Amino acid sequence: MERHPETAMVQGGRPTGPGAMLNTPLVLNSTFRVGGELGYGRSGNDTWAAFEDVMGELEGGEAVAFSSGIAAASAVLDLVPIGGTIVAPTSFYMGLWSQLGERAESGRANIHFVDQTDTAAVLNAAQGADLVWIETPSNPLMQIADIAAIAEGLDEATLLAVDGTFTTPLLQLPLALGADIVVHSATKVIGGHADLLMGVVCTNAPTAERLRDHRYTYGATPGSLEAFLALRGLRTLAVRLERAQANALALAELLGESDYVKYVLYPGLTWHPGHALAKRQMRGFGTMLSFEVAGGEQAAARLCSATKVFANATSLGGVESLMEVRGNRESERAMGTPAALIRLSAGIEHVDDLLADLQQALTIAHSG
Ligand SMILES: Cc1ncc(COP(=O)(O)O)c(C=O)c1O
Repeated sequence: MERHPETAMVQGGRPTGPGAMLNTPLVLNSTFRVGGELGYGRSGNDTWAAFEDVMGELEGGEAVAFSSGIAAASAVLDLVPIGGTIVAPTSFYMGLWSQLGERAESGRANIHFVDQTDTAAVLNAAQGADLVWIETPSNPLMQIADIAAIAEGLDEATLLAVDGTFTTPLLQLPLALGADIVVHSATKVIGGHADLLMGVVCTNAPTAERLRDHRYTYGATPGSLEAFLALRGLRTLAVRLERAQANALALAELLGESDYVKYVLYPGLTWHPGHALAKRQMRGFGTMLSFEVAGGEQAAARLCSATKVFANATSLGGVESLMEVRGNRESERAMGTPAALIRLSAGIEHVDDLLADLQQALTIAHSG
């Protein structure tokens, strides 16, 4: 019987059979007696395997866990041969943007940055490319790229990788839409409690094998405790997401109606340029939004330091609501992020407390 993802994330990755423990334990082990499938701790661990089983089932592929989201992404980018070509968005997660710049500078790859919301431009830039990287919704501008149309238009030889960190497999299934690879920072919504760093790639069996070899050779293995916590986070993902997503929409609506706000970027708002596409390719609009207040950078800084429920901190996807001025970093500015842009990660607190907190902080920011 095929099970729903909400069931798979609760029931998957557990020992079975009479007398079995209900939970896969935290396995702390670096070596194995000879004669078995695994020889050394860098090649596998039961706790990682339990997490990977669940992620693979959810995404419809094989999962390979890494020590962080950026380690997972780096392993995927390393599938491109030296001197190969990568197409990436003009605006996306700044850590990867910086890494791609470094790859170009050191001669490891040719990088073409392109507006990922313009499918024709992506496909044009992708001619002869080894890999196209998209991130949808993107961090922090919440741009939506058309996964199915890009997958459909690419040559067979060009890999399509999607960073699905903002969506998790519950809201978007890139492999089913035709992508070859989906990457998550499990540090964020999947882990969900701001207490671990981990990444995961889901893909077809041969590519997963190459990624496992990469992990073994280059060593970006997840910690067992992190894998245990990430799996524990996955167990409650469906209910966390439901609440956080409803909170995000309510916050976006409040911001959309405020006279102190210039604009709000949330794909769940009908006037977001990617709304129709997001509605088609996502099962929900997610927990992230960005906005700009009137009054520029100073007002933005005032707002972020005036909140009492939202923590003024970077990162995203946890049970706790966070807010930060995102546009004040050098690499964000270089990508064209407005200097006063604020990025907000909705948590699972009571919506009325979040709305009241945001409202009072907007008043303080505006009054100067
Ligand atoms: C969209 C996205 N992808 C990847 C990463 C990198 O993940 P990690 O911090 O787990 O290395 C981040 C981190 O913020 C992110 O926002």
